[in-house]
Amino acid sequence: MPLSGMRVHGKRSRVVRIALAAVLVLLATIALASPSSARTSTLTVATNGDDANPGTVAAPLRTIQRAVDLAEPGTVIQIRGGTYDPGVNIRIEKSGTASQPITMRAYDGEHVVIDGENMPNTPAPLGESYPRIERGAIHVAGDWWRFEDLEIINGPYGIFAIESDNNIYRDLVTRENYETGLHLVLDSSDNQVINLDSYGNRDPRKNGESADGLAIKQGTGSGNTVVGARLWNNADDGFDSWEFLSPIRIEDSVAWGNGVDRWGFPGWEGDGNGFKLGRGDADHVVTNSIAFDNAVSGFIDNGNTASLRLENNTAWDNGGSGFVFDRSTSTLNRNLSVSNGSGVDLGPSGGSGNSWDIRDDWSNADLVSTGTSTIKGPREADGSIPATDFLLPRDYPNLGADFSGDGGNTGDPGRYEAEDAPAACDGSIDANHAGYSGTGFCNTDNVSGAAARFTVEAAGSGTATVKIRYANGGSSDRPADVVVNGATAQSISFGTTSAWANWATATVTLRLNAGNNAISLTATGSDGLPNIDYLDVTTGAA
Ligand code: GCU
Ligand code: CA
Repeated sequence: MPLSGMRVHGKRSRVVRIALAAVLVLLATIALASPSSARTSTLTVATNGDDANPGTVAAPLRTIQRAVDLAEPGTVIQIRGGTYDPGVNIRIEKSGTASQPITMRAYDGEHVVIDGENMPNTPAPLGESYPRIERGAIHVAGDWWRFEDLEIINGPYGIFAIESDNNIYRDLVTRENYETGLHLVLDSSDNQVINLDSYGNRDPRKNGESADGLAIKQGTGSGNTVVGARLWNNADDGFDSWEFLSPIRIEDSVAWGNGVDRWGFPGWEGDGNGFKLGRGDADHVVTNSIAFDNAVSGFIDNGNTASLRLENNTAWDNGGSGFVFDRSTSTLNRNLSVSNGSGVDLGPSGGSGNSWDIRDDWSNADLVSTGTSTIKGPREADGSIPATDFLLPRDYPNLGADFSGDGGNTGDPGRYEAEDAPAACDGSIDANHAGYSGTGFCNTDNVSGAAARFTVEAAGSGTATVKIRYANGGSSDRPADVVVNGATAQSISFGTTSAWANWATATVTLRLNAGNNAISLTATGSDGLPNIDYLDVTTGAA
């Protein structure tokens, strides 16, 4: 509009002035909001909603897909309780960002079921293949997503994630899907699967040959971790990393009852391993995990020719061998194998402190408990597997997996996560930089004196090797004191790791007392500590 127009028509100039004022208010709002750029919009979905609604709690959307289509980095999609059973799968083809992930979760603890039964390929006919985009009741082709507290059933795969990075799958249930429960494939890095329950998944189209509880398959990418999974009664295997060519880390997980034909398929093809860690060439690591009552093996390299590491795992009552690592050059330490169909099969793999290194005649009488009801029972409120002395050895406290909830005392090295009490952090427990272990890391305030504090238990007094995992994405070193039971044991300077998602370890040797020791890392520079992930403590002769 020409300036003269405003002068001539007084009315119009008033409109323009109001419009200008509105723009100024808007600009001011943006200016106020943008420095932290933390835009979190929330979209609510409910079974009685309407996709024409704005997506507020009072006027929710009807479909999850509509919320996905509206989502932007930072959006939280909160889904009200009930069952959602769309006729097409939910497709995620956009990404959040590192600082603004997109979250999809149940609203305030309500129970959300995403039922794929109305989707195509539930099941696909015997022997048929079908387009990738149709795979997964939730099909994930985006990065920086968080999926929390959802149950996914009857899908053409529960969740199928393809070429996706930096996603977090937390507190999910994937059950009775017509293929694998949670499936990650092709280039996939820095994904975390935390506290997944995946069971009863089966694949009529392949007579049981490929439905696993959890699969990270046919791809590459570092930094994928699985913590606290329970994988049971699936047609094929509990966990499968078939042809995934980069190391995956699995901790604190349990697989049972896999590979049994529970559906009366003709020509049964299910495999039946608890943790199937091949094929390919990747140094997977499995710690503090249990495989029991699987049709075939507990833990198997499955033709993986690399150097895997298995520490403090237990195989019990599997149909075949507890540990089959005859095609890799793996290291197995302090694993326990009892009452399996056959003995361990190690080929060129080695290690020490395993039950078979101690003696030959292990039996159920050597175990504190073989009762399965707790390990199979409801999870704790925080999503963790309930504490149980299931399969703990009566003697040898450092042997096998330990789910007794006392901080993983069998772990030697014992891991002390910075985010797990009684550890404490002068700052915040964050999870915004990928690659950490457990559920987060300690980000101290950037001041001198800020500390990450741990309580470390030692069986006897003596020296301990303590590995400190940290990331320093700043450009300068961050010095700190290592204080043991009140006395500064040594000073250490954490060098830069160039990025906050690059983690490194620094190793110190400390003298510990028998029992509990207070170990703190205390910043001596004004930047505070680097981000601290955990301490790995090795005591004694190991
Ligand atoms: C960034 C980074 C934090 C880190 C902090 C620091 O804010 O995201 O994780 O702790 O820098 O400099 O200490
Ligand atoms: Ca910090």
